[in-house]
Amino acid sequence: MINLTINGKSIEVAEGTTVLNAARQNDIKIPTLCDHPNLTPYGGCRLCVVEVKGMRVPIAACTLPAANGMVIETETPALKKSRNVILSLLFSERNHFCPFCQVSGGDCELQNAAYDEHMDHWPMQPQWTNFPVDTSHPNFILDNNRCILCRRCIRACAEMSGNFTLSVEERGAATIVVADTNVPLGQSSCVSCGSCVQVCPTGALIDRQSAYLGHDKHLTVTRSVCRGCSLGCGIEIHTRDNHIVKITGDYEAPNAGTLCKTGRFLPVEQTRTRITTPLKRVDGSLVATTWEDALKLLAQNLTPLKGQLAAVASTRLPVESLYAFKSLFADGLNSAVVTSTEEGRPTALQAEYAIKNGEAIEGKLDTLRTSDCVLIIGADLKSTHETAGFYVKRNQPKGTRLIVIDPNENGMDDLANLNLKPQAGSNEAVFNALEAAIIKEGLARTDAKSSKTTLEAALKACGLEAEDVIDAAHMLAEAVAPVIVYGRGVSGNSDAATLDAMVRVAKLIGASDSERKGLISLKGGANSLAAAQLGLVDQLKVQNCKAAYVALGDDFASKRLVETLEKVPYLAVQASYESALTERADLVLPVDIWAEEAGHTLNTEGRLQFAEAALTAPEGVRQNLMVLVDIAHELGVTLNENWREALTQRTSVVELEM
Ligand code: FES
Repeated sequence: MINLTINGKSIEVAEGTTVLNAARQNDIKIPTLCDHPNLTPYGGCRLCVVEVKGMRVPIAACTLPAANGMVIETETPALKKSRNVILSLLFSERNHFCPFCQVSGGDCELQNAAYDEHMDHWPMQPQWTNFPVDTSHPNFILDNNRCILCRRCIRACAEMSGNFTLSVEERGAATIVVADTNVPLGQSSCVSCGSCVQVCPTGALIDRQSAYLGHDKHLTVTRSVCRGCSLGCGIEIHTRDNHIVKITGDYEAPNAGTLCKTGRFLPVEQTRTRITTPLKRVDGSLVATTWEDALKLLAQNLTPLKGQLAAVASTRLPVESLYAFKSLFADGLNSAVVTSTEEGRPTALQAEYAIKNGEAIEGKLDTLRTSDCVLIIGADLKSTHETAGFYVKRNQPKGTRLIVIDPNENGMDDLANLNLKPQAGSNEAVFNALEAAIIKEGLARTDAKSSKTTLEAALKACGLEAEDVIDAAHMLAEAVAPVIVYGRGVSGNSDAATLDAMVRVAKLIGASDSERKGLISLKGGANSLAAAQLGLVDQLKVQNCKAAYVALGDDFASKRLVETLEKVPYLAVQASYESALTERADLVLPVDIWAEEAGHTLNTEGRLQFAEAALTAPEGVRQNLMVLVDIAHELGVTLNENWREALTQRTSVVELEM
């Protein structure tokens, strides 16, 4: 531990702590602008300078490591004067006419810092050049006139999303933030994750959705969990008047504030039409009815068809609803098919493997965040589960190597150190080839001496070159912390033999042993793993079904689902929005959307998370869970409620953190 004194107060902090963080930990405020707790200290704005006894000039606290015996002052007249000069220069350098800025009035850190220093006018005459405002991006606006060149956006783009789109151009007062080689943001390599907007301290980067809808002080913030995919990133939902104004990444959650476009912007862009009353089909048309009537009608139609019923639930539903769904349709009604909208495609294979072998084979996302060699197979982390791709991309400049194996074009192809294009459907042969190459090259970390097939036979089966496979074998086996990330391309299109082959390779490279688990599957929706744990993984076969019930919630109805259910004579749907499925339903029950319903999600790494409701549902709409409870009541079924126990009844592919 380190002992130092700040403003006469003796404090103790851990080794490696900066003076700024030492002060923060002890409730001593040092003003900052370029610093951001989730980004690497930069030391650019100099607002945080402090006097250190024995040092000739004031030093920036954000980049200064605390040392034993340091004596620091943060509020001397000279420091106050220095801050005043720095802020005056910043105000005079660009157009900071606060009354015209969207973040003025509490959300601007520059304005707030000036007020903290009791500044009420500009001591220096403003002198600036007008920069064009970049409005080419669909989600946000870049206005260099409001920029203070703190470079937080540039660091966020690199350190959080690994996208490296933003940088600066020119020198001195003419310096501006640019995208790529100064192309319009909307035409740049930007992936619209919005991390830059979230960290911007001024109005230089503002998002279009929340602009002019109120300051942060007018908004209610609810900590929640993104339902966009199985990664379960922590988010904060900012609401006003029962509307989502914006979504930001939760800095305190394991994703440390990092989000993708799907998590940050898409939920606010919702344009689908909401259903707010139960609907029943009369003479070919859907007409409004009461809940009482709708539930009665449903019971009348389902009761005689119990054994010929197909029931499908979205993996976006909270665990509580998924379990009630299973309890009602599988345990209570003994329906012919009870499954999820994913039909187990991204989960069934590994779930089966875990049950058969009685062990969790997969690891946590932290292993991906810290890996020095990642193999991605059967997944495109640019099109789904994008934040997992950010975890890889941002480490590449630090030396993390990337192997992408995909017969098709892959969004990560350009970033890969090694790009392998095997024949479609040859995953098992690819892993067999890797296994054979690792053993042949003497790279195995286990005492395995023989492979399932020869390298030559495996290469013939997958169409890869020996040289490429041997390169991949070296990269994986020589890495300190290798990770294999796999998606539907493996879990959805393969068989147990492929998974066996993949686990054998993982063991050979030290990515699957008692010490370290470096196998990660992406699975599908927010509660993909929960659906697998509850056994909702069967294929939706409806040949013998006379009725279907779909608990769709606020999910999209896929073309496949709509087409599969086309031939079922009676269809009831619980849904939030109008869709092709509700259009052809005989009965529609309106339910709340993700942000209106509190509940749990179990993310891809087995972490159970609770999300509070941030909005109140419209009148006439019921909770997903309550609708299932009401149906059970109408049908005389007693529901089990112990979903926690149900989740742990079978071996999970990844250790559960309940
Ligand atoms: Fe330390 Fe900017 S906050 S130099």
